[in-house]
Amino acid sequence: MPTQTPSEIRLAGRIKNLTGSVARDILSRTQNKDIISFAGGLPDASLWQNLQLPATPPAAYQYGPSEGELPLRQILASRAATLGLPANAQTTLITSGSQQGLDLAAKLFLEAGTPLILEAPTYLAALQVFQLFEANIHALPLNAEGLEPDALDALLTRTQAPLVYLNPTFQNPSGACYSLKRRKQIAAVLDAHNTVLLEDDPYRDISYEDDAPPPIARFLQKTPWIYLSSVSKTLIPGLRLGSLCCSPQLFEPLLKLKQAADLHSNRPAQFVAAQMLDNPAENQKRILALRHHYRQKRDHMQSALQQHFGDIAQWTLPRGGMFFWLTLPQSRDLAAALESTLQQGVAFMPGSPFFLPKQNNPCCLRLNFSLVPLEKMQQGLRILSSVLKRQQSN
Ligand SMILES: Cc1ncc(COP(=O)(O)O)c(C=O)c1O
Repeated sequence: MPTQTPSEIRLAGRIKNLTGSVARDILSRTQNKDIISFAGGLPDASLWQNLQLPATPPAAYQYGPSEGELPLRQILASRAATLGLPANAQTTLITSGSQQGLDLAAKLFLEAGTPLILEAPTYLAALQVFQLFEANIHALPLNAEGLEPDALDALLTRTQAPLVYLNPTFQNPSGACYSLKRRKQIAAVLDAHNTVLLEDDPYRDISYEDDAPPPIARFLQKTPWIYLSSVSKTLIPGLRLGSLCCSPQLFEPLLKLKQAADLHSNRPAQFVAAQMLDNPAENQKRILALRHHYRQKRDHMQSALQQHFGDIAQWTLPRGGMFFWLTLPQSRDLAAALESTLQQGVAFMPGSPFFLPKQNNPCCLRLNFSLVPLEKMQQGLRILSSVLKRQQSN
């Protein structure tokens, strides 16, 4: 039988907006190879080397509720409540990673041309989802304190966007963490415009100094909100579990979207996560060990960067999360640099996929420090900086 070519198959029109994730492409090129990868956002597998997962009871083999398992919802809702959010198990949904929370929120709010505001730079896989739903995306420059409240106010007045997407705590990719004052200001602007906040918060627990200020959603007085959290960065990402809590009026439609998407998240994984998170003392111990481990890596990376990048890039020491975000004063072809570093066994993430296409953006790169073993960081950064320096002198 003759096969149809992709252009002959009548796909949905929005598929033309479906971009591949650059990070996933680089990951697939680096898998199973002895590559020093600063490219992804992967936790350090040595953290779970000796981890024994709890056994799953056969009761978990059956279909389950779309909302998720009640014990896990209770644990995650009470965690959100300790951050000051008006959250409870009834308005908490277990999702297949926080990535699914982004997908469900996009389905709820976005159709072709819906204005949406987010940070520049932003999490690239969120951009991928919002572009697929054909949102009219507006990106506001992000600085170390967060978005400028006046700029957000002006853009909301101009676009009447119904949704704002923010990752205000140890942002991926920039590492930025909004100050307490800035969080309150942003909340006041959103309240004034009655614009829904989609707050993405997977890195909160990976803090290297004091605890991060509370979520922005905590300061909202009247506008609805959706708050996404994840177990990927602090437990194990392979469980594919996250949580979504939200204003009560948004819960029902989000739950129906979840049903339509996949009926419910993986039940054995939910049992495992609930058992692992159920013991607050053990949990706290694990988080402290994780912070200590990643802080060491961050500090090691900082001194290696000072040695190899001090004369070619600028950056701020991240106070949490998993990434350094470097700005290069001179524009250059980072795709070509990546090809060259890959040939020498080193991967990194060029900055452009974190911005809207065709925008005039600074030349940046994102370097992950959670995955690479301490003893390989120097070598990897030396190779990367020499490729960039060679490009500069050409
Ligand atoms: C900002 C942000 N949001 C969401 C996700 C998705 O995480 P997961 O689906 O594993 O919970 C990530 C993963 O890197 C992220 O960095």
